[in-house]
Parts: sequence; structure tokens; C-alpha cells
Amino acid sequence: MKYLFGTDYYPEHWPRDRWAIDARMMREMGISIVRMAEFSWAKWEPAEGVFHFEDLDEAIEILAKEGIDCILGTPTAAPPAWIIQKNPEIQPVDSHGHRLHFGGRHHDCQSNLAYREHSRRFVTAFARHYADNPHVVGWQIDNELGNSHGDLCFCPSCEDRFRQWLKDKYGTIEQVNKAWGTAFWSQDYSDFSQITAPKDTVTGHNPSQQLDWKRFCSDLVLDFHRFQADILRKEAPNKFITHNMMGFSDKVDYFKLTEQLDFASQDQYPGGHFQPEHNGYRADEQAGALDLIRSAGHKPFWVMEQQSGITGWEILGRTPRPGQLGLWALQGIAHGADAIVFFRWRSCTMGTEQYWHGILPHHGVPGRYYQELKQFIADTGSILEQVQGSVPAKEAAILFSYDQEYAMAIQPHHPDLKYQSHVMRYYSALHRRNIPVEFVREEDDWSGWKLLIAPFQFLMSMSLADKMRAYVRQGGRLVLDFRCGVKDTHNIAIMTDNLPCYVSDLCGLKVVEYDCLRDTDGAVSWGNQNYPIEFWNDIIQTDTAMPLALYAREFYAGTPAITVNQYGEGSVYYIGTGMKPELADRMVQEWIDHCGIRPLLETPHGVEVTHRKKNGSTYIFVLNHNAEERVIEAPESWQPIDSKGKGTDIPAYGYRVYILTCGLYTDTDSKL
Ligand code: GLA
Ligand code: GLA
Repeated sequence: MKYLFGTDYYPEHWPRDRWAIDARMMREMGISIVRMAEFSWAKWEPAEGVFHFEDLDEAIEILAKEGIDCILGTPTAAPPAWIIQKNPEIQPVDSHGHRLHFGGRHHDCQSNLAYREHSRRFVTAFARHYADNPHVVGWQIDNELGNSHGDLCFCPSCEDRFRQWLKDKYGTIEQVNKAWGTAFWSQDYSDFSQITAPKDTVTGHNPSQQLDWKRFCSDLVLDFHRFQADILRKEAPNKFITHNMMGFSDKVDYFKLTEQLDFASQDQYPGGHFQPEHNGYRADEQAGALDLIRSAGHKPFWVMEQQSGITGWEILGRTPRPGQLGLWALQGIAHGADAIVFFRWRSCTMGTEQYWHGILPHHGVPGRYYQELKQFIADTGSILEQVQGSVPAKEAAILFSYDQEYAMAIQPHHPDLKYQSHVMRYYSALHRRNIPVEFVREEDDWSGWKLLIAPFQFLMSMSLADKMRAYVRQGGRLVLDFRCGVKDTHNIAIMTDNLPCYVSDLCGLKVVEYDCLRDTDGAVSWGNQNYPIEFWNDIIQTDTAMPLALYAREFYAGTPAITVNQYGEGSVYYIGTGMKPELADRMVQEWIDHCGIRPLLETPHGVEVTHRKKNGSTYIFVLNHNAEERVIEAPESWQPIDSKGKGTDIPAYGYRVYILTCGLYTDTDSKL
């Protein structure tokens, strides 16, 4: 692919005589693509059916003269005031029944038919206008679908559509009653017209209805995206379609969304999380988000918005330290990005995002951010070109499921138990040892993964259990943990089997009782070492499983907390408790010793190592997220391909890139 680096650009925010200066400065720093237009509907269609693309045409032409192409965003995340005035019912409604109004963005309901018609008219005209423009090479549909829509939309149009979704899924009202367990609290329906969205009630809601609602909400976003993608593909073929996603955001199933795309994109704001560690961000969480987006298509992706200055709306974050902007951009490449687009070109002088800083400051004269990123692009352009198209080898996989995530959000069990942090419990422990991770889903082919960690398999089906059995029988190493097999896929407790339902034979144990660790910590012993645990203890009776760790407290002290069971050619680990980092580290060591997964390199804390493989070569990225220099012990076979010579000292927020043509991981080449 010819594009390596880009920027998000809003020419409509700046005087026209500045556009040529911007384009020249972009070219000078090595930018070859911009994303534009995703929030500017009111400019291009100031009145219904009256289109004015002249300004955008001119901006595209000015950029093209400097060799810069563009991706255009459909602006459906910001419908203009005249649309809202004409059809106020487009504005979304939250679960309390409050309508949300014009003045920000995302003030739209994605099921509303009037809104669909406005969107159809605009997107069709937009696509036709740019169909033959060779400098418009791709589309982004809407912007961060799901952003601000977490608790939206509960309007009458969405309720109608939900009822239709249920009719398609269940056919009859009797089937809905059965699936939702409506015998409880007199919730039987005699007609679909009685069903509403799960709005606020005076007590807790029906968990089965809530689960279907969350699935429906994801499907609605997918439908809204497909509706636009169909228009774009028909009217303007031969351009790619991507979408800028938000890592672990759960509103829409990113695996399914990626099926509609040519490739996925991620928006990456390490400083946007305002966490105390590592100067405001956690490298493992960034890494996890990047790996999830790569995993959504199991192929390289783009970063469509990469932080390029201070983040903040009303409250601001820290200024990125010297080196951090480049380091963060390289982290994207290290996890599989084929292009990096920096958000945004210049800090905006107006509107909500005045302090979400760009490459250039408000006054437009290049400062440190511009100089650092220009140097970074010069240093890494040829490396990115070499690695484009490559992905990591298969080592460890984590089973990721939006259904399980929704189920945990509906019934967290422990107030602090959240799916993303629970998944990160495992991911971070592997990340600390520099073991590559891919996220896979239930329906994927699991063969080739040496270790498959399946956290919180709360919703279980016979077919999923059979698939797990087959994976292990053929030599796979599977990890299951507490609350496995509690419910069926309708979120109704399974009553025909022992916990963990359908897989107790696979685990070689029964869970006979359990204990939620509210307001207290727990401990386990493993060998002669004690480790803290949290949230939950399954009380386990082993059958064929062997205990690895034992509870160290409570009336069940001395009983198994973590077990391993041989099954067929493989084995199954069962973890009955929430592992804190020390225990998770011990667990990972067990998997390194017994499951064949290998660290890329042992490194000091805060130094991350990743790899990408292509044509028999392995590219190794070493990233120092620390505020001080660190020294690594790179093997002799690692040949540096950055311009930094032989040394193995990595400055604060610095990085190294190596290539190796033999050795580590070469035995897995054939599986790529
Ligand atoms: C998101 C959006 C951008 C911008 C940035 C900064 O990533 O996609 O439009 O709003 O956040 O807030
Ligand atoms: C109260 C109610 C019961 C049941 C229990 C448990 O005692 O009367 O119907 O709801 O609480 O929540």
C-alpha cells in the first residue's frame, strides 16, 4: 500500500489561503493521505437537496498537488440543524426517556426512517460526486459508531425495530416468553406489541431481555453501517471502506463490523485515559486495544486517529513527553498497523475540542510536536513500508465474546468485576512477558494456537462445549475460569448439569459451591508461596483434575483453586478465582513451562516487545515506555534496521527495530 502516514484535516475550519500552506507543510513532513469531511454535513448540504462540494473539491485539489490523497468520512454523526428542525424525532432518547438535543454531535437515532432518508440522500450525492475523483481513495462511514450512543436509543422507532428483530429471531411470542423466562414476576407477553425497550424500571430488569437488547443494539449499528456501505459500493466502487473503532468499546461487535470493511482502523489516544501510571497511560491497555482491532479481521489495520498533542476537552491531560508521540505511533505499527493517521493537523480555535491538540498549535507555526513527528516519519517510513501486510505468528489466543461481555455487564456478580478488565488480567500477564496474543471468537478456527484462554465462559452451549472438547482432544491447551457454563445463550441458568455445565468432564471437576469476595480479599497457596486473589472463589471437587493452587483462607482452605486436567492430547486449566498480577504471573510461567508459548525476550518492566512476520523474516519492535533509559539483551541474531547502530540501550520513550531471518519463531512460519 502506498500510504504510510497521514493526518486528520478540517479545511473548513481555516481560511482558504492557508490550505496550500498546510498541504505543503504536510508533504514536507512525509504525509501522503488525509481524512476529511466526517463532521461537515451542514457545509456540503446547507439546505435539503442543495449540495455544495466546491470547497471540498478545492481542498482535495490543493492537497493532490502536493501528492496527498484523501479518505472522506460520511458526516452522519453530525446532522445539521435544518434536519433536526424538520424532523426533531431524529434526536435520540436515553433509557430514562429523556430526549437529547442538538448542540454536540451524535444527536441521531440510527433506526429512525426519516434519518435514514436524509442519510441516503446525502451519502448518494456524496458518493456520486467523488466516484471518479482519483484522489478520493477511501471512505470512512460515520465516525466511531457507538461513541456517545452507549445508553441510546430508546425511542419509539428503536422499540419498533426491536420488536421486528425479536419476531425475526423467535417467530412467535410464546418462544420469546420461553427464552426470556417471563414466568418470573408475571412478565408473559400475549403480543409483540407489548414488548418495550428495557427502559428504567422500579427494580432490576429481566436479564434475558437485557441481553437481547444489547445484541439488538449492536445489530442496529451494523445495519446502519451496511446501509451506507451498500450505497458507497454501488455508487463509487473501487474505493476502500474502513471505520475508526475504539478498542474495547462494547456497543458494536467489532468482529462483525470488520466483515463489512476492507480493513479496520483504530483511534489511539494513550493520553486520553488520564491514568497515573507511566505519565498518564498504560502501555498494556493500548497494546490490548491494538491487538483487538488487528484480531477483528486477523489482518493489518490502520490507526485513523493517533494522538499528536495534549488531549482534553474541558479538562486537559499531560503534554506528551519528548519521544512519546513517536513511541505511541510506533506501538500501533508494532501491533500490526499498516498506516498511521495523526489527529489532528492543527489545534482548533473553536468548538468543543479546542484543547484536543493537533500537530500544529493554534497559531499554526510548527513547534515540538511537528518537529518530533517529522523526524519520526523520516526515521520509520522505510520500516513501515517493509512490514506492511505482515501479522504476528500464532502463540497464545484469548477468546473474546461480546455476548459474554454483555452478560457480565448485566450481572457483574461482584461490583468491581468488568469483562474488559477481567480479559486484561490475562492479557497483561502475557504482555508483561512479551508473549504475542491474538483475540479469537467462538466461530473462528482455533487450530494452531498453542494456548487458548477463554475467560468468563458464562453463557455456554452444547456446541461450544463440543468445540472446546475437540480443540483439547487434538492437543490444545485451554484455560477456563469461574462462572463458566452457568447460563444458556438466553441468559437462563442451566439446570441439567453440574457447574461448569457441559464442560465438567473436560475440566475434570465439579464446582459444588461458590463464594463472592465482597469487601474482602482472599489468598491461595501454590507450592510454598502465597498469592492474593480477588472477587470470587469457586469451591471445587476434583474428579480427574490435579490441583495446582489451593485456597489459603476460609472454611474451604486447602481445597483446589486452580487445577489442570489432561484430556485427549491436550489439557485444560480451570481457575476458580480472580488472579491478581503476582498469581497471574505464576500462571503464565506454568504455561511457558508446559504449553510451549514463548516470550519474545525477557525485558525490564515497561519495555514492550512485539513482532510481525513476512516472507520468512521476523521484524521485532522494542518499545521503552519508561521515563528513563533501559538496557535490553538483544540476541546476536537480531539485526537492527533502525538508524541507531548496534547498542542495546534504549532512551526514555525510545524504541529499537530489528530483523531476524532465522531462529525464534521460524518453526511456525508454515502456519502463517
Ligand atoms: C474521537 C473522535 C474525533 C475527536 C477525538 C477527540 O477520537 O473520533 O472526532 O472527537 O475523539 O475528542
Ligand atoms: C423480598 C421479596 C421476594 C424476593 C426477595 C429476594 O423478600 O418479597 O419476592 O424478591 O426479596 O429479592
